[in-house]
Amino acid sequence: MTLSACIARALRLLPPETGHGVGLWALGLAGRLPGGGPIADPRLRQSLWGLDFANPVGLAAGFDKDGRAMAGALRLGFGFVEIGSVTPLPQPGNPRPRLFRLRHERAVINRMGFNSAGRAVVRRRLQAWRTRRAEAGRSGGPLGVNLGKNKDSPDAATDYAAGARALGPLADYLVINVSSPNTPGLRDLQAADELARILDAVRRELNGMRAETGRPPPALLVKVAPDLSPESRRAIARLVMTSPVMGLIVTNTTISRPAGVASALAQEAGGLSGRPLFDLSTAVLADFYDLTEGRLPLIGTGGIASGADAYAKIRAGASLVQLYSALVFDGPGLVRQIILDLSARLAADGFSHVSQAIGADHRDP
Ligand code: FNR
Repeated sequence: MTLSACIARALRLLPPETGHGVGLWALGLAGRLPGGGPIADPRLRQSLWGLDFANPVGLAAGFDKDGRAMAGALRLGFGFVEIGSVTPLPQPGNPRPRLFRLRHERAVINRMGFNSAGRAVVRRRLQAWRTRRAEAGRSGGPLGVNLGKNKDSPDAATDYAAGARALGPLADYLVINVSSPNTPGLRDLQAADELARILDAVRRELNGMRAETGRPPPALLVKVAPDLSPESRRAIARLVMTSPVMGLIVTNTTISRPAGVASALAQEAGGLSGRPLFDLSTAVLADFYDLTEGRLPLIGTGGIASGADAYAKIRAGASLVQLYSALVFDGPGLVRQIILDLSARLAADGFSHVSQAIGADHRDP
């Protein structure tokens, strides 16, 4: 058994949330060691939104909600890291237990409910991290900050706009997360009129930031659910094509229980991620690629556990990919394995650069 698999197995001996806490703590410590960073490969390197991605494999939101372990995650080889979701005010999230491992299905169900240290704490951490990075002369990989809203907030647009103001200057890209299933009413914000109001409020903040600093504001992305109807997907695609949104993250966890998810834990309420999410999230990704005519960079997320999975997402239309759940089962060494395997698969299919493979299934099914 590899060291990575041993680490994963040892952490799985602990209750899920304790195991996660220990893993995050260890990654935070690892980030303090000198050296290390994203795995670089000329075949995989891309520039998107003016940012330099050494490789297209990123850490999905939810693993490091409060910005404790960015440097450690980049040491694993990830090309980029997304923290959050961050809510405006601190909140505890749902009562425990709220995180479940479905080992046989290689899936996770969570109903964390946006447990967050809140944007003031995260802002201080990001500032300290940026200072350390600048002092060390390292740029590392791009950092995404995923924004959520407080459970009892009266106005979502105000929450997202305030999040953009506080954390935008410290982020390379910002994500409007309107797709987590564990905050009542959140996914209703994917309705085009609601989303338009949020985007408008955030756009005003970002324009203000540009005027104040003279620097371009962070790229703005929206993260969507895999459970959207075809009509909702069309409406979102129409909206984002005529808005300041520069990309979509497709997808968050699903409230559905795809066939084959048979464990008793499948009855637990919450969003399902990991292997059983792969087909659904990849189909939704392919649909968004069609709907946006391949003109909007997409980040493909959901069920990636191998180089083959990452490659399939890219062929379905993803410019970048992200993962979380597979780390629980395969351990930290998986990141390197996926990146090396992805590069080998591109080469075997005659692609000299990853960009040539983006959306390839739509041209050559
Ligand atoms: C998540 N995910 C998530 N997404 C998000 O936008 N904000 C969040 O706070 C969280 N929190 C979170 C917690 C836990 C425990 C899990 C497992 C997932 C969703 C995550 O970013 C991703 O979209 C899905 O998990 C699908 O990818 P994987 O896990 O199948 O690779």
